[in-house]
Amino acid sequence: MDFRGRVFLAPLTKGGNLPFRRLCLQHGGEVTMGEMAYAYQVKKRSKSELALLRKHPDETCFGAQIAASKPHDAIVAGLAAVERGASWVDLNCGCPIHDIVRRGMGAVLLQKPVQLGKLVAEMVKGIPVPVSVKIRLGWSEDDQNASEVARILEESGAAAICVHGRTREQRYSRKADWDAIARIAAERSVPVIGNGDLLTWYETHERWQQSGVASVMVGRGALIKPWLFREIAEKRSWEPTAEERLGIAFWLAQAMKQHFRDDEKGRERAMRFLPWHLGFFCRYRPLPAERWQEASRQHPLMQTRFADDETDLSVLERLLRDPREELHAALAGELWAAADAADAQQRALDLAGRLPPVAGAAADVATAHG
Ligand SMILES: Cc1cc2nc3c(=O)[nH]c(=O)nc-3n(C[C@H](O)[C@H](O)[C@H](O)COP(=O)(O)O)c2cc1C
Repeated sequence: MDFRGRVFLAPLTKGGNLPFRRLCLQHGGEVTMGEMAYAYQVKKRSKSELALLRKHPDETCFGAQIAASKPHDAIVAGLAAVERGASWVDLNCGCPIHDIVRRGMGAVLLQKPVQLGKLVAEMVKGIPVPVSVKIRLGWSEDDQNASEVARILEESGAAAICVHGRTREQRYSRKADWDAIARIAAERSVPVIGNGDLLTWYETHERWQQSGVASVMVGRGALIKPWLFREIAEKRSWEPTAEERLGIAFWLAQAMKQHFRDDEKGRERAMRFLPWHLGFFCRYRPLPAERWQEASRQHPLMQTRFADDETDLSVLERLLRDPREELHAALAGELWAAADAADAQQRALDLAGRLPPVAGAAADVATAHG
């Protein structure tokens, strides 16, 4: 596993399901990561938790992420991931959710660097693939200890450190601090993977170069536009039409059919995910470099970079930008039922004809996950 020169799909609970990861591979993604699995549940052989460690054969470079506080749990979970083909195992030290930190996992480990170092050292000894760790800058703005944590992680044998450039308490309210990420990258010889607010190929390359990180990781950017990977690789924008984007959503519905099965139970499971993905897809707006390069420097926070100044949008474009959850549920149902891409388009147009118009098509990007 080479942690340098790569673009990682971030671990994304709910979003990083196997069909979505395949969609990213279709659009230039190469390095994927699973949804966070609780190590203690894997140890109990929980079926749903073990399923999170599963990868598709097309995922040739797949990292499983686990949340753990105890070395034995972490090793058992890591070995289960390796049995299922993981190329490496990542320990989550960034999750801010109360229920997780209360159990001694996720971001709270940043507050116990010595214990964290021992945990990672044990994992490195007990798991026969590289172990990486995903951290935040610290617990809060007044308590940023990522430099010290990263040093301890390197000394403990971590093969790579991913730094999400925000603190636990900031969640998504502040822009990612790429200067802080750059400082950590300069201090360490182990590869540092920079993460936070990468939505376009041009800012990805700018931050990558300026910060000196070994690799970069994209989360919400991939959820909004899974083709971001190809844009980054080719250093140019792709601005898909509404028809092309609907085709992408239809492809995802098909991949979910294959994964969850084409029956009522499979449909039920897919409907927990597909409408949710449409809630991210609807935030897509073209952000061409010539118009947005300067603007995105001034507004690096992902939520503030969207403009809705276009008029004259097609019926399908308006439908795909519509932020209403009930519409995402209805559209997901149509995509599931469609026989092929042309049928999906006809069904989407019929659906648009049945809907009351939305006031202003702007998606409320500020509320979702940050
Ligand atoms: C829906 C969602 C689920 C996430 N789940 C996880 C997770 O399971 N493990 C993790 O380490 N980070 C998780 N994150 C955080 C991302 O991996 C990433 O660090 C963060 O979104 C910043 O990157 P971005 O600005 O590119 O989105 C999640 C983020 C989102 C939006």
